Amino acid sequence: MLVPRQRNAMSMQTLPGFRDFLPEDCARRNYIFARWRAVSRRYGFAEWEGPPLEATELYKKKSGAEIVEQLFNFTDKGEREVALRPELTPTLARVVAAHEREFKKPLKWFSIGQFFRYEKQQRGRLREHFQLNCDIIGEKDLAADVELVALCIDILRAFGLTKKDFVVRISDREFWTDFFRDKKVPAERWDPLLQAIDKSTREPRDKTAEKLGGLADPVFATLKSGGKSTKLEQLVEGLRARGLADFVAIDVGIVRGLAYYTGIVFEAFDRAGKFRAIAGGGRYDNLISQLSDGTLSLPALGFAMGDVVLGELINEIAPAREAMQEAITNDSKIDIYIVIAKEQRRADALSQIQQLRDRGYRIDYPLTPTKVARQFQAAEDLGARIALLYGDEWPQVKMKDMGTGKQELVAYDRLLAHLQAQSSLSS
Ligand code: HAM
Repeated sequence: MLVPRQRNAMSMQTLPGFRDFLPEDCARRNYIFARWRAVSRRYGFAEWEGPPLEATELYKKKSGAEIVEQLFNFTDKGEREVALRPELTPTLARVVAAHEREFKKPLKWFSIGQFFRYEKQQRGRLREHFQLNCDIIGEKDLAADVELVALCIDILRAFGLTKKDFVVRISDREFWTDFFRDKKVPAERWDPLLQAIDKSTREPRDKTAEKLGGLADPVFATLKSGGKSTKLEQLVEGLRARGLADFVAIDVGIVRGLAYYTGIVFEAFDRAGKFRAIAGGGRYDNLISQLSDGTLSLPALGFAMGDVVLGELINEIAPAREAMQEAITNDSKIDIYIVIAKEQRRADALSQIQQLRDRGYRIDYPLTPTKVARQFQAAEDLGARIALLYGDEWPQVKMKDMGTGKQELVAYDRLLAHLQAQSSLSS
């Protein structure tokens, strides 16, 4: 939905992969943020935030080659090598390692922020995007993995999306590391092999086979048959107990591109297979230990959901799109439009506007003398539920219900009490 705008003059263009957010785009973005925040809080997650700029080293060490190639990095005026954050997980591990003692475990934290990756601009991939990150730190039990996948599902459900619209594909990196161990593959070769499996659905089979070498046949056979994993079956059972099993599918072809994952991994996709991943995450039990040079070891897991693909999917699915439009339209409406029919009454009107705004009513009025008919038109355009007319009737004010057209006269000093009595207008 939020596509970068094209402008004519070169200097007026946004940089490739960056977006302007006009008020309607902001309204859509806020709609997404509000649901992200509400459902995360419903699951008992606390909001936190990290800095948008970090030492480049943080990502070089931990995120894996693909993300390092995509860094927006530079040398700052203090000769530091810095990068705009491409993801939140390394920052979270750094922050947890520094502040761990201040909090009871497990930590359940969420964050909403903007991220930057120098990617080739394409459908669903821009150079900036917003992510919701939800992470659980300090719990190794599979119950935490179930909780996290359930949260991911419930967030998508909050947008009116159903099991017909999306699926969370769950997998386990340990399934593959056990497989490699069984095939006597030395541990230093595991990472490139995992990356090759991760790309196998997006790359030509020959290219994947070349990367897998002697393991190509058994890997392709396992991908085809689906593989068996007791842990993944237990995860599905945990979701079944909540009535959410139909939202997931076991798919060992999901490995995830980031280097730090150690166990369960998952990605959410639209069922029709039209878009890139909506969300992705998994367990990264060694990252905090690696970042703290072994002084602190805490199991961890989390996922991130981006606004770009989610926005495209909401636009695609009619009930989700309509729910968003309705919420945005309702949210943009003002409560009261003040019609100043006689300029002599402007000071009286402004005095009441101030009092009404102090009480939380959303109010608009003409800044300069304007014909009454145009003022009523503005009231309608802005979705006002009530128009208050300040004119010849003073010290009474004419109150018009914009929905029914009903009019009544109210003494100006009774106005606040009168409005408060109308519960539908409460702020
Ligand atoms: P990720 O899979 O790299 O995971 O990104 C998560 C989501 O962010 C993607 O599924 C996608 O919706 C969105 N996204 C990523 N890159 C772009 C882009 N260039 N344009 C638009 N959307 C994008 C991570 O970032 C992990 N740190 C998630 C995580 C949290 N793992 C544990 N905790």
